[in-house]
Amino acid sequence: MSERKSIILIERGILARAGEIASKHLPSKSCAIISDDTVDALYGDKLESSLCAAGFHVERMHFPHGEASKNISTYGNVINFLAEKQFTRKDTVFALGGGVVGDLAGFAAATFLRGINLVQVPTSLLACVDSSVGGKTAIDLPTGKNLCGAFYQPDLVLIDPDTLSTLPDAIFTDGMAEVIKYAAISDISILELCKNARKNVDEIIRRCVAIKKDVVARDERDLSARQILNFGHTYGHAIEAISNFRITHGQGVAIGMSIIARACAKRGICSKDCADELISAIAAQGLPTRTEYTAEQLFHTVLSDKKRVPDGLTLVLLAGRGTCKLEKVNLESARAMLEEGLTK
Ligand code: NAD
Ligand code: GLY
Repeated sequence: MSERKSIILIERGILARAGEIASKHLPSKSCAIISDDTVDALYGDKLESSLCAAGFHVERMHFPHGEASKNISTYGNVINFLAEKQFTRKDTVFALGGGVVGDLAGFAAATFLRGINLVQVPTSLLACVDSSVGGKTAIDLPTGKNLCGAFYQPDLVLIDPDTLSTLPDAIFTDGMAEVIKYAAISDISILELCKNARKNVDEIIRRCVAIKKDVVARDERDLSARQILNFGHTYGHAIEAISNFRITHGQGVAIGMSIIARACAKRGICSKDCADELISAIAAQGLPTRTEYTAEQLFHTVLSDKKRVPDGLTLVLLAGRGTCKLEKVNLESARAMLEEGLTK
């Protein structure tokens, strides 16, 4: 476990108090706000004003929104910007935005001068419930997603659910796939909150963050327990990749969870009711539960999953309501389960 521990605060309006809070926890009053163009336009001024009011010197930089920016070139621009502005190890990067900004600016903070302070300020549902917590930072390479990165815990995570008011419904729904994942792996009562997700979003974030914190505390480096957070992701990532990212991360995970739930019910690992409950909850959000891709097409892509080991892979299986288990399976079984999960 790393020495760095994150302070995570969830509170409506906290963006306007970021400066006051940050000044209590950070060693210097010099910082960079890194964001994407959309989020910078919506919330950059608010964060900057709050920091300036608390006496911070603030520099700002943003890049075009979207996964296509999460690459070596943008990363290079960010670390060059930090160098040109002469930031020191005592200074801080504020990552203001969704998971793309959090991962990229987080990786810049982890590597610039071998690591400077990092504050995550997530503004998408996915970033609030998942990517801002736990210290995974990364950029994509032409050969695959998140292939270059670091485990680097943020000093502070400031979650302001008010920022979600501007999040388009489609992006909010995408984040709901990760919320349902937390229900499946740990707390089935989250499904009740999902029935009115916008209204219950504060409680949803609180519950998901608590689960993630607990899992990460047990296995920061993703060697064992943390892999439970990959429920639905093995087949989900394959679907995302094969569609050339036309199918979003949330949609891929939604289909991936449905596939594994069906397969587990067929094998008696969980009951049919348990699988049906989860699949219905996914469908109720307007997320897909099926794909047109064949087992053959998908399995080919699963074979290049970065978490695969030579003789198999670890699948996250649905074992009951709010309970999953990790199981190392050989490639034959992984393929068989995929086929079972794709058929009715
Ligand atoms: P994103 O960062 O691209 O945000 C989605 C879109 O929403 C963007 O266009 C962004 O500009 C916009 N947006 C964000 N907040 C907004 C707001 N409040 N109002 C209006 N628009 C807003 O995507 P995402 O879904 O947040 O994150 C996906 C990324 O997260 C992927 O790169 C994925 O690999 C990564 N991820 C990382 C982890 C981790 O543990 N580090 C976990 C899950 C996913
Ligand atoms: N989102 C998966 C993890 O943080 O491990």
